[in-house]
Formats: sequence, structure tokens, C-alpha cells
Amino acid sequence: MLSAKMEGTLNGQLNAELYSSYLYLSMAAYFESRNLPGMAAWMKIQAKEEEMHGMKFFDFIVDRGGRVTLARIEGPETEWDSPLAAFQAVHAHERKVTGLIDDLAKMAREEGDTATDIFLQWFVTEQIEEEKSADEIAKKLTMIKDMPALLLMMDKELGARQAAPAGGE
Ligand SMILES: [Fe+2]
Ligand SMILES: [Fe+2]
Repeated sequence: MLSAKMEGTLNGQLNAELYSSYLYLSMAAYFESRNLPGMAAWMKIQAKEEEMHGMKFFDFIVDRGGRVTLARIEGPETEWDSPLAAFQAVHAHERKVTGLIDDLAKMAREEGDTATDIFLQWFVTEQIEEEKSADEIAKKLTMIKDMPALLLMMDKELGARQAAPAGGE
């Protein structure tokens, strides 16, 4: 059984994951408007993954006898100065999410809630990957700067991203 405090915090994280999905979908729309379909496709896959993260919290709360309560999802930004700025924003956002997961894990350990602690391990590992991929893309875009030919190549490269299998990343 989840404590009331843990139930509330897990519901908060469910909301944060759905917000992440909404943010990346907003970035997909931005990239479509900039005629960068590869980057848009990358963001759509990212948005789907975040939705899946949210569902992991949804199912975990239910499995532990808790109650899922959906709150309002904040409206994401809709414009970025450049593709680089958008991917830098992804990196910054993922770092923030890592902090939320770390705080949750700390709370689980303080409560002696081993099941939640173990459940969160998957997210701890996932966040390493999330931060790394956003940082790598941002660094490449920094090197590319304003060279359109290279930007188009990068767009093609990111467009080749495959969706993770369900229950995977
Ligand atoms: Fe996530
Ligand atoms: Fe993420």
C-alpha cells in the first residue's frame, strides 16, 4: 500500500511525464513549421515514449492499491529560436526530470517503500540515456551552427530514429 504522500507524489510524476510528452509534441510541431521533418519525427517518438513513462506511473499507482487522479497539464512553449535552442531545452528539461526522479527515490527510501524504490530504478537508468541523447544532439547542432546543408543531413539522421518497443525505453 502506498502512503498518501507517496500516492500524491507519484501522481505528480505522472503529470510531469505527460507534460514532457506534450512539450515534445509541441517541439514536433515547431520542427514541422521549420520544414525539418526528421527532427519532427524524432520528437514525435520522444513524445510517445514520455506518454509510455506516464502510463508506467499510472499502472504502478493502481497496482499498489492507490488512486490515479489526473491533474491539468500545463501548456508547453510553442516557439524556439533555433533547432539548437530546442534541443538545449530538451536537455535542460530532462535534467529537471532527473532531479524529480531522484527526489522520489529519496522519499521512497526514507519511507522504507522498497517496491517504489525498485520501480524507480528503471527511470534512474532511463534518465541517463535521455540526458545523454539530448546533449549529444545539442553538441552536434552547436558544431553545425548555420550551415543549412549540414542541418539537413542532421535532420535526415534524426529522422531515422526507430520507436522503442512497447515497455522498452
Ligand atoms: Fe520520462
Ligand atoms: Fe524524458
